[in-house]
Amino acid sequence: MPKSNKPSSPSAAQPRTAIAIMAAGKGTRLKSKHPKVLHEAGGKPLLAHVIAAALRVVPAKDIYAIIGHEADRVRQAVSQTGIVFVLQREQRGTGHALMVARDVLASYDHVIVLSGDAPLITPETIEKLRDFHLAKKAAMTLLTAELQNPTGYGRVVRKKSSDEVQAIVEEKAVDPAQRKIREINSGFYTFATKSLFGHIDELKTDNPHREYYLTDMAGILSKTKEKVVAVRTDDASEVLGGNTRAELVDLDVRLRMAKCQQLMVEGVTIFYPQTCVIDNDVEIGADTIIEPFVQILGKTHIGADCRIRSYSVINDSEIGDGVTVRPGTIMDGARIGSGAVIGPYSHLRPGSDIGEGGHVGNFVETKKIKLGKGSKANHLTYLGDAEIGEGVNVGAGTITCNYDGVHKHKTIIEDGAFIGSHATLVAPVRVGKEAYVAAASCITDEVPANSLALGRSRQIVKEGWARQRRNAAAKQNR
Ligand code: UD1
Ligand code: CA
Repeated sequence: MPKSNKPSSPSAAQPRTAIAIMAAGKGTRLKSKHPKVLHEAGGKPLLAHVIAAALRVVPAKDIYAIIGHEADRVRQAVSQTGIVFVLQREQRGTGHALMVARDVLASYDHVIVLSGDAPLITPETIEKLRDFHLAKKAAMTLLTAELQNPTGYGRVVRKKSSDEVQAIVEEKAVDPAQRKIREINSGFYTFATKSLFGHIDELKTDNPHREYYLTDMAGILSKTKEKVVAVRTDDASEVLGGNTRAELVDLDVRLRMAKCQQLMVEGVTIFYPQTCVIDNDVEIGADTIIEPFVQILGKTHIGADCRIRSYSVINDSEIGDGVTVRPGTIMDGARIGSGAVIGPYSHLRPGSDIGEGGHVGNFVETKKIKLGKGSKANHLTYLGDAEIGEGVNVGAGTITCNYDGVHKHKTIIEDGAFIGSHATLVAPVRVGKEAYVAAASCITDEVPANSLALGRSRQIVKEGWARQRRNAAAKQNR
């Protein structure tokens, strides 16, 4: 590069580029009360995927989401990304969306336009679209794809003698020859803002929807001898949109499968990945095995060498190394120490903190508890608002009565205590270190360390009672 003594102006060095994401539409074809861009694929709203890709190309302050239908909900769902919002009060078409954003976008040299309902777009492709546009010094550049079935998409009509584009024709307006064109408009563009806003007022609403179509800019610019070019994606699936329920499900499958593939590359075995639902932000360590029909959701982190067995649903949980989660376990906001064994059919609710090597077994429900290292609650138990020390055995059918109808109270069980089966621990209550609670006891008072507490009526045995009863009955029948 030749050296210059003059400080170059910022626009000469680096053109100022914004990204506009069209997200104001209602999504009529989904037949939903929720706005289209908040429908989820891969565990995240469609719009959140598009913003995530955009953020890897330009900073948040240069990203403008054009919102309209249910604008407050859309804004709230993605506001933490720090992007800028533009309100399109009435949704009068994709061209109108850009008219509304004119004031904020006109100060940029170029604007990349993305669709809030097409979540598979990658930062690499956005950059390819921008760089092609800059290299060609074009007024408008569209990203296109070759689809087996182009039905429903705008078709790209190229000029005969050059690479340039003559027009985009929407599905409803194609003639029989154009219907056969398989190169479709992705709905992603880069514009030179001077060309876009210099001609955007020429858009008309002479179409079946009576909307301003942004796609008509191709014909308008091309007619005024401005350069309109198209660049094809390598991966046609990147342009797919979620306009219908079937398309949404297809997007979800693709995102989930991509996540499974990525985890497998990182050393995780996932049997029958097409049956597993794993959210985008989930992390899993090497040599962990995921069995069929497992859901791992939210911000869950699973360590190495674990086995997550079938039909478990794990949300926002932190699982250490070498943990076994047996079939049918439900976990939400739980922490599981290394080497623990959970399930089958355990229900770990928020605030469950299971220590290293702990066991939580069949039909055990926990909430807001700490279960110390090596402690066990293996069968048919409810533990809520409890602090349980190390090496404690909680017998089958034990219940912490944490709720008096108004307030929640705490149960404390100290290290090495042994809780017999079917104990009822009425909180607030404490069982001291190494103490025993006899089976079927109702414990309402403190159990001191090293003691035995019996809280049940003494057994009575009536010798010969059953025989006498039988004999009496036999006499009556004679
Ligand atoms: C659009 C293109 C079509 C292309 C397809 C690719 C037009 C006229 N057609 O069709 O050529 O093949 O995308 O997916 O642009 N939106 C607004 N404000 C509005 C209207 C729409 O923000 O007034 C938003 C929508 O929320 C959506 C995006 O713009 O995120 C695209 O609109 P949509 O109605 O889905 O256009 P398509 O019919 O898919
Ligand atoms: Ca669409």
